[in-house]
Amino acid sequence: MVTMASMASHFRTRAMDLRCLAVVFCAVLVPSFAELQRFEHPIKSDGSLSFLVVGDWGRKGLYNQSEVAFQMGRIGERLDIDFVISTGDNFYDNGLKGVYDPAFRESFTKVYTAKSLQKQWYSVLGNHDYRGDAVAQLSPILRKIDKRWLCLRSFILDTEIVEFIFVDTTPFVDSYFVEPDHVYDWRGVEPRRTYVSHLLEDVELALRKSTAKWKIVVGHHAIRSVGHHGDTPELIKYLLPILKANNVDLYINGHDHCLEHITSLDSSIQYLTSGGGSKAWRGDIEHRDNDALKFVYDGQGFMSMKMTQTSAAFAFYDVVGKVLHKWKIPKQLHSAV
Ligand SMILES: *[C@@H]1O[C@H](CO)[C@@H](O)[C@H](O)[C@H]1NC(C)=O
Repeated sequence: MVTMASMASHFRTRAMDLRCLAVVFCAVLVPSFAELQRFEHPIKSDGSLSFLVVGDWGRKGLYNQSEVAFQMGRIGERLDIDFVISTGDNFYDNGLKGVYDPAFRESFTKVYTAKSLQKQWYSVLGNHDYRGDAVAQLSPILRKIDKRWLCLRSFILDTEIVEFIFVDTTPFVDSYFVEPDHVYDWRGVEPRRTYVSHLLEDVELALRKSTAKWKIVVGHHAIRSVGHHGDTPELIKYLLPILKANNVDLYINGHDHCLEHITSLDSSIQYLTSGGGSKAWRGDIEHRDNDALKFVYDGQGFMSMKMTQTSAAFAFYDVVGKVLHKWKIPKQLHSAV
């Protein structure tokens, strides 16, 4: 005799079989889901992971870039960091001129000289990087010049406890495509609509498939910001719903030359801006009515993060290495992924 329950489970299994089949067919027939390139970085033997985040920095040491770099070295040593994340606008004013542009050494190699910073750097491009030879920053030739360097448009960094998704946010912003004052290097981006829609699909797929305890998305532009540029409406419209639907824990960005922590009121997301790598003090912080502002600092600095399976602790530092703001997010050990 077939009970209702077993029939229901039978249909569920059938439905699942069909779905698996559909996935297989899609993967074979429609390779448009070109998955994002994936990198792996080991965690420490005690199960933790530490890193620094800096953004908007490359000015040949000027505007306190060297002072911030010095403090990064000190804090990096203390936290025994595993790597550094750059949130973009790596080289001012107009990115790199090419792979052999001396600005690469002058603004990167010769500035971040501390022992603790001789780790892998994971970087995205900012809008200023797109004003030069954007493709040059992605080149393996730069990795030969300084082996710490890794900059790609969008990619996944898998660290066992955290999955990072780095997203190329500049192509989302409408104004760059109609701006008469600047020339952008859109090689590899155009046609823009296709590029952005494929990128959104890739990010969604990566987040959906991730089984990591923590999910962090990194981009250059802020989703939420009270700084000079403020929110990025294109990211609120297209990227944010995907992050919310997939329980992203942190969105980390640069672009505004300040340090910020904003808590989402209707999701699990903390928005963190670390864009104080050099020129700052814009003086136009504007308290807008957007989610819960926990902290903002208009000057130079950077951010540190220490994560384990059960907690993520971050801190913001100023140009003399003073802690300006600290926060800890707990996570239940056995919560559903
Ligand atoms: C560099 O930092 C010092 C110390 O906070 C500050 O007084 C100075 O204005 C900063 N310089 C620039 C160019 O922002």
